[in-house]
Amino acid sequence: MSAASRSYTEQDVEAFFDQTLDNYLNFWDSDGVLHTGYFADGNDDDYGAAAQQTSAVLASEARIDASSRVLDVGSGCGNFLMYLARRFGCAGEGLDLSEERVKFARNKLAGEPDPRITFRHGSATQMPYEPGTFTHVVSQDALCLIPDKPRSHAEIERVLAPGGIFAFSDFLQPRAQVSERARKHVFDRVRWNGGYSLIGYQEALDSRGFEILLARNLRGHIRQTYRVLGATAAARASTVADPAGRDWLLAFAESCQQMQIAIEDDEFSWGMFVARKRIDGR
Ligand SMILES: C[S@@+](CC[C@H](N)C(=O)[O-])C[C@H]1O[C@@H](n2cnc3c(N)ncnc32)[C@H](O)[C@@H]1O
Repeated sequence: MSAASRSYTEQDVEAFFDQTLDNYLNFWDSDGVLHTGYFADGNDDDYGAAAQQTSAVLASEARIDASSRVLDVGSGCGNFLMYLARRFGCAGEGLDLSEERVKFARNKLAGEPDPRITFRHGSATQMPYEPGTFTHVVSQDALCLIPDKPRSHAEIERVLAPGGIFAFSDFLQPRAQVSERARKHVFDRVRWNGGYSLIGYQEALDSRGFEILLARNLRGHIRQTYRVLGATAAARASTVADPAGRDWLLAFAESCQQMQIAIEDDEFSWGMFVARKRIDGR
């Protein structure tokens, strides 16, 4: 599975997402959204609308409704779960490893109170829920970051009710071996050890008791995301007086160029999956 030469721990991932919150809020999305966009076409430059569309597509594929009890794993700043509760009337909880992001989500929820949802600090590898608690587990671009993926898959299977739906988007690593360039700009940049190919992901989920309902490779959308965000970061850099902030934005813009090459070279991609917990186990 992994070809990156570093080995990051959950503590490394937690520190990265705690420490970069302000950087991302300053140019990516001031509301804290941090996932790949689902663009209308190759000329679409509206990242905000595309990111919202990712949430709408995933919710629709997951068939969430007012009776759903949803867990968002890697909920970040809380936007997806708040959207789901508002749009469909479901209840749920967001779980995230970054305390800073959980605080941000809680503050936002305090401004738009909704008693159906809560946010909790914790890890997908050790979830504080009873077996069968949720009808749906959802996630956006978070599961790839977990060093022990079999363990998080087992936890997700445990907390889902029989027949429950696991619907998520995630980064993919189509090729086992990646270049030094991809290791630096795609993997090390976000403390990502490595991920699955589209087929490898399905095999991993199948072996954990899931039936695959949908597996879609969406490489054009992630290429578009980094094309648009790279241009945004470069433009923002020219307006920032603080040298450290400007350097961070310029480094991000350079990584966006390199990420697009990595996508062309099949070192990096993005996919959407829907799987059902088998009623009869494995
Ligand atoms: C790219 S961000 C996506 C955040 C959010 N899903 C969104 O769409 O805006 C990845 C998130 O996954 C969280 N994360 C990483 N490893 C995790 C783990 N083991 N358990 C729970 N959350 C984790 C990070 O803290 C971060 O907030």
